[in-house]
Amino acid sequence: MHARRLATTTELLCIKTPDSEEAVERLESYAATHGLDLTTVPVGEPVTDDHYDDAQETLGVSVGGDGAFLEGIRAFAGRGIPLLGVNTGTLAFLARVQPGEIDGALDEVLRGRATINDRQQLRADAPGLDGATGVNDVMIEPEPPENPVDRKICRLHVFADGEYVGQYDGSGLAVSTPTGSTGVALSANGPVHYPDDNFTLQLVPLLTHRMGARPLIVSAGTELTVVPEDPAMLTVDGGRFDTRLDADAVVTVTGAPRPAHIVRTSYDDDFLTAISRKLGWGLRGGEDAGPTHRRPAPDPEPDDLRSNALRVAEEAAIGAGEPVHELHGRVESVETKTDKSDVVTDADYQAEHIIATVIENEYPEHGIVSEESVHRRSDSEYTWLVDPLDGTGNFAHGNPNYAISIALLEEGTPVVGVVHAPETDETFTAVRGRGAAENGRPIRTTDRRALDESMLLSGYDPDGSFLRAFYQETRGVRRIGSAALNLCYLASGTADAVWEHDTYPWDVAAGLLVAREAGATVTDQHGEPYELRTDAGDERTALLGSNGPLHEQLVEHLRERRAAGD
Ligand code: IPD
Ligand code: CA
Ligand code: CA
Repeated sequence: MHARRLATTTELLCIKTPDSEEAVERLESYAATHGLDLTTVPVGEPVTDDHYDDAQETLGVSVGGDGAFLEGIRAFAGRGIPLLGVNTGTLAFLARVQPGEIDGALDEVLRGRATINDRQQLRADAPGLDGATGVNDVMIEPEPPENPVDRKICRLHVFADGEYVGQYDGSGLAVSTPTGSTGVALSANGPVHYPDDNFTLQLVPLLTHRMGARPLIVSAGTELTVVPEDPAMLTVDGGRFDTRLDADAVVTVTGAPRPAHIVRTSYDDDFLTAISRKLGWGLRGGEDAGPTHRRPAPDPEPDDLRSNALRVAEEAAIGAGEPVHELHGRVESVETKTDKSDVVTDADYQAEHIIATVIENEYPEHGIVSEESVHRRSDSEYTWLVDPLDGTGNFAHGNPNYAISIALLEEGTPVVGVVHAPETDETFTAVRGRGAAENGRPIRTTDRRALDESMLLSGYDPDGSFLRAFYQETRGVRRIGSAALNLCYLASGTADAVWEHDTYPWDVAAGLLVAREAGATVTDQHGEPYELRTDAGDERTALLGSNGPLHEQLVEHLRERRAAGD
């Protein structure tokens, strides 16, 4: 999940321990002064769908220690709700915001300036346990004997994706996530995993009697199977789920499909500092960071407006892309606008809301013109021109060719452009005078000169005349259905030219900059430089873009066809 999405949070859902009233009061007062709905649920009571509103953007908050945090993960991760942990306990690794920091941390969240760590979870299946999900670990241990002097070890047979790993004799084993690597697994000599973007599981033997039994790390997609020779106990996340296993019961543990979304703010210690402080790691020569601790300086905040605007636009596009991607393929209702093919969906509005909120937070003085509803005129020389979803027709039919398009105009000229395609994870970016890139790699148009070797893209072509004019003359004319993507594919060289019979300025503002910065020539149908008409309201104009060498031939061809009345 992208943290910029949190800028539209409207509701807090809090899990609280009985001794955390003071921190909960702070949360209540923050919610009241910021117009947020707040629901609190005591730890131990199940969180149900009635506790929150699906239509709102919800932030989960746990107030307590790591136990309350784990309860929060259990309640929220499956619902895709991100979790911020407030620590009123003592030794907390997970809940890291102190009660006095609640206001500051929530301010960061609402400005979209927090970060979100996606943490791997695991899923355990066994007789009596149907898909228990945890963020820390699964423990399989021998059942305590009735008479304490009796045998207390067990033998577990382990398989990884069906391949026999071997037999583990001892006090059982822990299968942990990277988050759980600092728990029981660590006390059994397992390695510490840096948990961010770490999608693995590890199997760590407990009090084993075999020197050769070492921790085993597997990818989260690996299915670990454990079969006890004797009755055993299985617990998930310190007993949040448990079951008794008969001899020969089959247990499978694998990565859960959904990660837990953990919200981090500047009030959190970094991971290694947190464990160093809390576990007395001793690697830093003292109890704190120590004199030898040198952290590489973070990248400096971009100080020029265009660099910062590029970062904001990219984050807004990626944040908005998430709910759109979630809705893709399950559109239930479509509104039509000017005609049956001019459609808008709930996803267009959701994306627009996120983008406008992020831009307003960062640049309250700038104008915003967005296709569906947000129009904030301003005296500023800067205006953002947004198409929250370009290719809505495709989107509504489950076709992946659609994009989010965000441009910053300076005195009407695009200076920053971002086009993000959520289904293919392509992000095209450009800053005026600094070139264009696709997912961070510089892109250039092709240098093809021969029309019969070229691949063209056509936008709206009401009478099919562009198709008729060029279909036989070229290697093909494709119709993708998103003007923004057409221009980006011209920029990246997967097409040599693009034609739009008529487009709105928001369809093409970002793509125009991406294409031009990649070397494209973009004109009107007569070969005159294409001008973005931001003052013309809903007026549509024609656009012809090419790699440059082909341009004259294309203009000429269009002219001839027009003269022939085609
Ligand atoms: C449309 C798409 C389409 C183009 C239309 C646009 P929308 O935008 O870009 O490819 O041919 O002219 O209006 O309505 O999906 O944002
Ligand atoms: Ca559009
Ligand atoms: Ca649109």
